Amino acid sequence: MTMPTPLCPWRMQVHHITQETPDVWTLALLCHDQYRWRAGQYALVSINNSPDILRAYTISATPGISPFITLTVRRIDDGVGSGWLTQQVKRGDYLWLSDAQGDFTCDTEANDRFLLLAAGCGVTPIMSMRRWLAKHRPAADVAVIYNVRTPQDVIFADEWRDYPVTLMAEQQATLGFIEGRITPEILAAVPDIAARTVMVCGPAPYMDAVEQHVKALGVTRFHKEKFFTPVAAPVASGLKFTTLSPAREFYGPVGTTLLEALESNKVAVNAACRAGVCGSCKTRVLSGEYTTTSTMTLTEREVADGYVLACSCHPQSDLVLA
Ligand code: FES
Repeated sequence: MTMPTPLCPWRMQVHHITQETPDVWTLALLCHDQYRWRAGQYALVSINNSPDILRAYTISATPGISPFITLTVRRIDDGVGSGWLTQQVKRGDYLWLSDAQGDFTCDTEANDRFLLLAAGCGVTPIMSMRRWLAKHRPAADVAVIYNVRTPQDVIFADEWRDYPVTLMAEQQATLGFIEGRITPEILAAVPDIAARTVMVCGPAPYMDAVEQHVKALGVTRFHKEKFFTPVAAPVASGLKFTTLSPAREFYGPVGTTLLEALESNKVAVNAACRAGVCGSCKTRVLSGEYTTTSTMTLTEREVADGYVLACSCHPQSDLVLA
């Protein structure tokens, strides 16, 4: 069988699928080759085995501990990737994955005190790292705060019984849950918070709030995952973007990335890693000024021809796109 894209060379077979919550499923995959990853990393998945549609999913399994490679996916309305993975893929089907990517991991941290924070499906790398720490740093002091919408939305509910965790539910909090969202007071109650390495994964506004609160509490070792970028509302002024095919004009605020400008204006663009690693958001700029923070997957020729990674392209003027 031919791989759909050189980016996703790992063929994996779905061994079984487990429903975690009303809208989250875990796909347990078997890989017949030796697939390596670090706790907290993600992989790109070729959706529908198509070379043109890649999505990034955290590997929720933990290397050396979990019997399968697992992807834990929330079904999103109109989500091309999540819809396929949670509704159409069946036991026995094959998926194609990229190498594991990302640096949201704890295995190089010398510190032995951690605060892991997750909201919703952001718990996937957090659980992967929690298992890793239990096995490889059994003496580590690890606090976890996990925020969900309602108690029935807790992912890995059975497994959390093995670890100390503070559970918070925005609504319908039952016994064992704190009601509401994360607050500075709840964070301040974590013992020795300033001495901890803080790792957070969840929607961008949640991560921003946590970052602000913990830094105000003296935390200096702070890491957040970058997947969860909300799509901003389109704007009517700012930098002007013109696409030639199809012919369109739209605007993005100064300081936006090209990817954010495209997405907020519903211009079709692939984006998997959002970190300048996977190459899926390659876009050609015909004119205008911009800076880039990554050209990792582009050839010199492509860069000279105006190709950019939209997630890593920072427009400095109006741009014309191919
Ligand atoms: S989304 Fe992966 S390089 Fe831009």
